Amino acid sequence: MRVLSVASEVFPLVKTGGLADVAGALPPALSAHGIEVRTLLPGYRRVLARLGDAVAIHAFDDLFGTQARLLEAKSEGLDLVVLDAPSFFDRDGGPYAGPDGVDFEDNWRRFAALSAAAAAIAGGALEDWQPDLVHAHDWQAAMAPVYMRYAGLSVPSLVTVHNLAFQGQFPAEIFADLGLPADAFALDGVEYYGGVGYLKGGLASASAITTVSPTYAREITTPEFGMGLDGLIRAREGDLHGIVNGIDTEVWNPASDAAIAANYSSADDPARAENRAALVSRLALDDDEAPIFAMVGRLTWQKGLDVLLETLETLVAGGGKLAILGTGDPALEAGFRAAAESHRGRVAVEIGYDEGLSHLMQAGADALVVPSRFEPCGLTQLCALRYGSVPIVARTGGLADTIVDANEAALSAGVATGFQFSPVDAPSLAHALARAMNAFARPETWTRMRAEGMKANVSWDRSAARYADLYRTLIERG
Ligand code: ADP
Ligand code: GLC
Repeated sequence: MRVLSVASEVFPLVKTGGLADVAGALPPALSAHGIEVRTLLPGYRRVLARLGDAVAIHAFDDLFGTQARLLEAKSEGLDLVVLDAPSFFDRDGGPYAGPDGVDFEDNWRRFAALSAAAAAIAGGALEDWQPDLVHAHDWQAAMAPVYMRYAGLSVPSLVTVHNLAFQGQFPAEIFADLGLPADAFALDGVEYYGGVGYLKGGLASASAITTVSPTYAREITTPEFGMGLDGLIRAREGDLHGIVNGIDTEVWNPASDAAIAANYSSADDPARAENRAALVSRLALDDDEAPIFAMVGRLTWQKGLDVLLETLETLVAGGGKLAILGTGDPALEAGFRAAAESHRGRVAVEIGYDEGLSHLMQAGADALVVPSRFEPCGLTQLCALRYGSVPIVARTGGLADTIVDANEAALSAGVATGFQFSPVDAPSLAHALARAMNAFARPETWTRMRAEGMKANVSWDRSAARYADLYRTLIERG
């Protein structure tokens, strides 16, 4: 079976969040199921620089007003097809925004081009390779099923929603330049509240829809989490599947990770303490027994970090230490910086993106806090499990599906791996932190929980099998 995976970021070539991790790790996991995946991604400057030997396999004379090529390359164990369109992608900045952090104003054109290129491949543009199915990730690729549908292709398509908060909404004026028939600007096409919705069009056009956890799949059928698309998603409920993410257990392996201070492989391995010591020294935290609570991720409202900030005094007063690594909202960055200033040794904040430090934090912290208001899946809590750091998570989305709360029943059955709390507010987070501190004070309980977490299956094995089954069903359905 041949599958074209289409994504706007792919680890380790280009990453702003969990989407890249998934797009980078799922294809190799699928190959164990006899599926040959090629990954289509944009030829950003940093991607082209890392490609090495690439071969041009197709040329577009006019792709949304520019010349473009498809390059074939192998990199990092992935079979890539790179959309080389310099006027769209060979720029300073990140995948979506310039160095000033402002979104590129032609993002609608850049990602329509990516999607149209995917549809061309589905339609047979490559001489020797045609996919049996196209798997499009998030709004940046969601127009692929739309182009395939209006080209009358019979190749099935799948859209995976990684985060409904990002939908790719544009003014109606762009429609004329999308190269779609006039009837595509309709309720069952790309029209969305009077404008053009890329994710909306993909959800309406794809053969099936997945999202990255069973709980989030249920949540997005409700107005509370549906972000305006719940009606459409409810209408497609029969084609909606929740498949929880895994992590790349080679990249995230405490027994061989080169980014941490000492390798270890079990919850009682004394080598883990060296990572804690390294983290304490790197972040200038007080060198004492008080538990270190870490958080790695985007500093945004979604992640509930305003609530963590509100709870910070209670956490410190209760004897905890806090270590934050992330970037995001300037107000949250400033808030955490100020907290670190006034609680030197107790609170440490690193504003920035640092892959190596994110590994050391997972290896050195005692617990990881993920207070998200919504979380389609979440990957940092899976890394925490694998690294023997205890996750404290909001009971939502993939967090609810992957962490077993340390209630009495779970503790006595020995299956608890962390702490869940709800709703996402300061009293309830403070309560969860207090429960964690209590457990931390009982070394036997704590080590048992860490051991249970380290045993949890956070790999792609099971979920890759589910994607493989779904692909097969869709191809057979035709
Ligand atoms: P989201 O995709 O919503 O941002 P996820 O938990 O799914 O959240 O994935 C985030 C990924 O990005 C994880 O691999 C996490 O370790 C990584 N990450 C986020 N922020 C940083 C940062 N500041 N430095 C290093 N890695 C980060
Ligand atoms: C999104 C979600 C996150 C998920 C990731 C990968 O960025 O916010 O919860 O883990 O995609 O699917």
